[in-house]
Amino acid sequence: MTNLDYEKGNLTFDNLIIKDITKEIETPFYCYSLNHLKDQYKSLNNAINLQNYEICYAVKSNSNQSIIKNFANMGSGADVVSIGEMKRALKADIAPNKIVFSGVGKNANEIKYALENDILMFNVESISELKKISNEAVAQSKKAPIAIRINPDISAGGNEKISTGKAQDKFGISWKDALKIYEYASSLPGIEIKGIDAHIGSQINQLEPFSHSFDILKQITNMLRDKGFKIDVIDVGGGLGVKYSNDEIPLDTEKYGKLLSDKFGNIDCKIIIEPGRFLTANAGILVTKILHIKESDIKNFTIVDAGMNDFIRPTLYGAHHEVMTLKEPDNSQALKYDLVGPVCETGDFFAKDINLKNINEGDFLVICSTGAYGSVQSSNYNTRASIDELLINNGEYEIIRKRIDEDTIINKDIISKWV
Ligand code: LLP
Repeated sequence: MTNLDYEKGNLTFDNLIIKDITKEIETPFYCYSLNHLKDQYKSLNNAINLQNYEICYAVKSNSNQSIIKNFANMGSGADVVSIGEMKRALKADIAPNKIVFSGVGKNANEIKYALENDILMFNVESISELKKISNEAVAQSKKAPIAIRINPDISAGGNEKISTGKAQDKFGISWKDALKIYEYASSLPGIEIKGIDAHIGSQINQLEPFSHSFDILKQITNMLRDKGFKIDVIDVGGGLGVKYSNDEIPLDTEKYGKLLSDKFGNIDCKIIIEPGRFLTANAGILVTKILHIKESDIKNFTIVDAGMNDFIRPTLYGAHHEVMTLKEPDNSQALKYDLVGPVCETGDFFAKDINLKNINEGDFLVICSTGAYGSVQSSNYNTRASIDELLINNGEYEIIRKRIDEDTIINKDIISKWV
């Protein structure tokens, strides 16, 4: 996979021998390639030929501040979905006027904070939310810039848990009700209509669903403008797919860029793109140690020190992630193993029936493409410590997030006075 190569029999990530890191850093740990993060941003940026656009990195895919700051340095804005993500983005030097605030359940505190910080816009998903934003804006003697997230009723995405644009999904407001909600929005004293938004799902490798969604956005924009509404921003969401396995064909970035130009080339709007996974997925690996090997007539298990609490995508979505050994595989016979973690759940696995050669207890394995929705979806289930995150740059590494040990986690509990 990307930036992973065997050199003299040892697996390297961005030219750094991973084995050398394991001598200094306790496994499991996440490791990110700065070069890959930069290359992805550049490749997307270069593929876009619009006059007026903003890449707003979807912070949820990997919210480490070093990662956000790298994109901020490259000119990126941010798509955030909570006060926590907003604080991270601001701390990592994303300009407030490049922040869009998405999400179906913004609370009062989050709305207040976003307004105080003068963000670019709120992507609004319900009438109830619209009213609350308006009220808070009036209290702050401001007008809140908003876009309505429309639900275009399109099926897209790697699997049903990450599809967000179908009519039955909780997201957005039916495109058929667009006019009504814009009329209502314009009647509210604290609202400034700025644009329109859609996000149809994640890990989309075909152009067709994007094309369909862009058509609907364009059609509604034209209709709203005809009715006298000022639409200056079209947020097309994220969702760009990546390659997780050797036989997967990822979205063609050039074609995606061309599609944007074809659909929005002469619409006179700022176009916002909210990529997450595209920028971060293949920049990350999870390094883990083999604790035990359990072989039997029925099934072989390789039990590693990372668990589903560290990386949940395989069990949650049935997601495929390639696994590599640190030693280059030789000509010996491979055996089939399930790769599992120490958590007390049958669902605690990373891969099933994979071929592994010459593995021994104490060896290390790499789970590939874990830069997006990896660390951010981790938990402390089974009172397991959280793990380190490292950044690699030109043959060196740096810790960019320290593990939180089990004692710190345990000490958060307060023993009740009633027990
Ligand atoms: N914008 C909005 C409003 C979103 O909800 C999302 C992702 C994105 C942008 C970024 O989408 P991306 O470019 O990363 O596909 N945990 C799941 C993915 C959930 C995506 C949620 N929304 C996974 O591990 O596959």
